[in-house]
Amino acid sequence: MKRALAAAAAALTLSLASGVSAASLTVGFSQIGSESGWRAAETTVTKQEAEKRGVTLKFADAQQKQENQIKAIRGFIAQKVDAIFIAPVVATGWDAVLKEAKEEKIPVILLDRDIESPKDLYLTAVTSDQVFEGKVAGDWLVKEIGSKNCKVVELQGTTGSSPAINRKKGFEQAIAGHSNIKIARSQTGDFTRTKGKEVMESFIKAEGGGKDICAVYAHNDDMAVGAIQAIKEAGLKPGSDIKVVSIDAVPDIFQAMAKGEANATVELTPNMAGPAFEALNAYLKDKKAPPKWIQTESKLYTAKDDPMKVYEAKKGLGY
Ligand code: AHR
Repeated sequence: MKRALAAAAAALTLSLASGVSAASLTVGFSQIGSESGWRAAETTVTKQEAEKRGVTLKFADAQQKQENQIKAIRGFIAQKVDAIFIAPVVATGWDAVLKEAKEEKIPVILLDRDIESPKDLYLTAVTSDQVFEGKVAGDWLVKEIGSKNCKVVELQGTTGSSPAINRKKGFEQAIAGHSNIKIARSQTGDFTRTKGKEVMESFIKAEGGGKDICAVYAHNDDMAVGAIQAIKEAGLKPGSDIKVVSIDAVPDIFQAMAKGEANATVELTPNMAGPAFEALNAYLKDKKAPPKWIQTESKLYTAKDDPMKVYEAKKGLGY
């Protein structure tokens, strides 16, 4: 009851401040699925941010399939929602459905992933700089390894997704010019813990038991956690025999870091919806288009950052 009153009060304050009735907005959210701890947190935060503003959120889980997302978006258009948020599973194949939304004058905001469609088909994208994330991870490894030879194995995110493409690119940029560091194997682990473990097991097998692997670079923490399990089962020590660097900064990776089993992660906020609602409200109020890209921060964490303290602080932020 208290929560509902607080949400109503917050919505009223916002509508008075902005001059539009945020409380009467209906927003459709096409979410990819729940492949990672980060993704689940983003869903939680999006629901919280909507509730805080008194926005009715229509939520659709696409179970990792673009066809389900397109179906959900068409459903939102038919229901005449006020806006649509999309976390796009892959980067291509959106033009037709986005044109349909545009024809109905429904603003679309992308959350956490980019697409290759013309920019006039969406209002804005709230994402991190994913090339930079990969570069931060790579720069950390370059510094950590120094002049030693280092054979890296890479666990890529979902094939065709913008973070998989860009995080690979950024990491490669960082290690270019450091001929002692080489990516020996690279395969998708689909951003999941289970596949991250499976693929790491196959890397270890293919590399004669894994003793020559110096580091694993995972495009997200969940795959890193899976890889850590595979490394331990192979009788090696994650974090020391094989360095572990990844992206997201979910609570589980800080627990691994505290045990010395993970080395570095790059933070991605699960709160993409907050800036998206702000941009949407401003747009609805005076039709002033926001910038095409609203960039979120990417911060490096290592074992020096008191991992258990960060772990505790992360709780309640959607995790
Ligand atoms: O698009 C963001 C990525 O998608 C996150 O890094 C990953 O965990 C997720 O599933």
